[in-house]
Amino acid sequence: MEWLRIEGGRELRGRVSAPGAKNSCLKLMALCIMASSECTITNVPSITDVDTMCDLLRAIGAQVVRQRGSTLSIDPRPIACARLPEQLVRCMRASVQVLGPLLARFGEVQMPYPGGCPIGSRPIDLHLKGLAAMGAQFAEEHGLISGRANRLVGTEIHLDFPSVGATENLMAAACMATGTTVIRNAAREPEIVDQQNFLARLGAQIRGAGTDTIRITGMPELGSTAYPVMPDRIQAGTYMIAAAATRGDVTVTDVVPEHLEAVGAKLAEAGAAIIASEDSVRVVMGDRPAPISIKSMPYPGFPTDLQAPMAALLTLGRGTSVVTENIFSNRFRYVDELGRMGAQISVDGRTAIIRGVSELTGARVCAPDLRAGAALVVAGLAARGETIVDGVEHITRGYDGLPERLASCGAHISHTVDAPEAASFDS
Ligand code: UD1
Repeated sequence: MEWLRIEGGRELRGRVSAPGAKNSCLKLMALCIMASSECTITNVPSITDVDTMCDLLRAIGAQVVRQRGSTLSIDPRPIACARLPEQLVRCMRASVQVLGPLLARFGEVQMPYPGGCPIGSRPIDLHLKGLAAMGAQFAEEHGLISGRANRLVGTEIHLDFPSVGATENLMAAACMATGTTVIRNAAREPEIVDQQNFLARLGAQIRGAGTDTIRITGMPELGSTAYPVMPDRIQAGTYMIAAAATRGDVTVTDVVPEHLEAVGAKLAEAGAAIIASEDSVRVVMGDRPAPISIKSMPYPGFPTDLQAPMAALLTLGRGTSVVTENIFSNRFRYVDELGRMGAQISVDGRTAIIRGVSELTGARVCAPDLRAGAALVVAGLAARGETIVDGVEHITRGYDGLPERLASCGAHISHTVDAPEAASFDS
């Protein structure tokens, strides 16, 4: 058993740094499959999804060495098979990101449908359709996808939706396809720009990431590189929201402030002072939040991954807030858990109506998925009394040292892996 124990109701004050981004690092690791020799990735977050991706790459033969600190080296030369083990693929959505690199490099891949957070239906039709347009052939049987491509050929692809994962898989495959690929209605997330920068360092001819049109001219071979992962805007945003929820004063360092503009704008609308510098953002909040409305959107809109933590803050609002989830179909699984703490939330389809209460009270709650887990931590930090958060394994998939980082700002939070009676607070 594993859980977080939080003694809430304390203002967070101080500085907390953002680690490397989960949602970029996992994809960079997959891109290493296409490198000609060993690549080194630095600023790698210490999260279990990275461990899973290491195991996945090792399972197909790559040599993966996790060095001390936050450095990882990946040598793809020993890769001997393109068949991915079911138990690892089912652990993590990002395992689908090896599809494009394996097809591009080896012309074949066999994998089950990927797993990940249960936040709604997560098809991969856009990935498969785009790769098929480049010449790949897929067969699906008993939940297993087999892909083959004797030759990938560059083409024009118009995505039905700016899917982050599909954009990344198609960018990867296009780098080793014959001719030029144009991806239109591409996702514009900063993580896509990080992938482009990495691929360019491998020698790929690619431009346009960060806009809705990406152009790639394929090369028969790519090189290798050393590369630092971009800062994690979702972890950083969570600390900004936690600062506001505890009416604290926190500076989140090692970030790209531009990536945090959507969350900063909403926190400002709720009454926080937001002070951005070159690589940090300070959040100061002195009162309960004003009620606001949030709509999750593709970047540069408000990120779906911060919808749940933001909703936790708004449970303490001075009125009624409205939260609309536009990206995933099942992202309100935290609502019942927040209800145990005194929150008043009703859900109608993709919309949650949050009637603000003057205080939350600590309770035993269970994280149903990664970002919902972060929401429960935010609520626990703000609540009066003790909160126990079970389901910590969801949180450690994507948050690097969350208890330690929060404790460095004055939170009373401990991560326990023992019997409940034995747990005690860090002072
Ligand atoms: C990534 C992030 C996730 C984030 C999401 C949106 C990783 C590992 N995960 O997920 O944290 O919440 O972007 O910013 O980076 N869709 C389809 N068909 C497809 C692909 C997607 O219908 O082939 C739909 C999905 O069901 C979803 C929407 O498109 O409703 C967005 O998905 P997508 O942008 O692909 O998210 P992921 O890459 O899975």
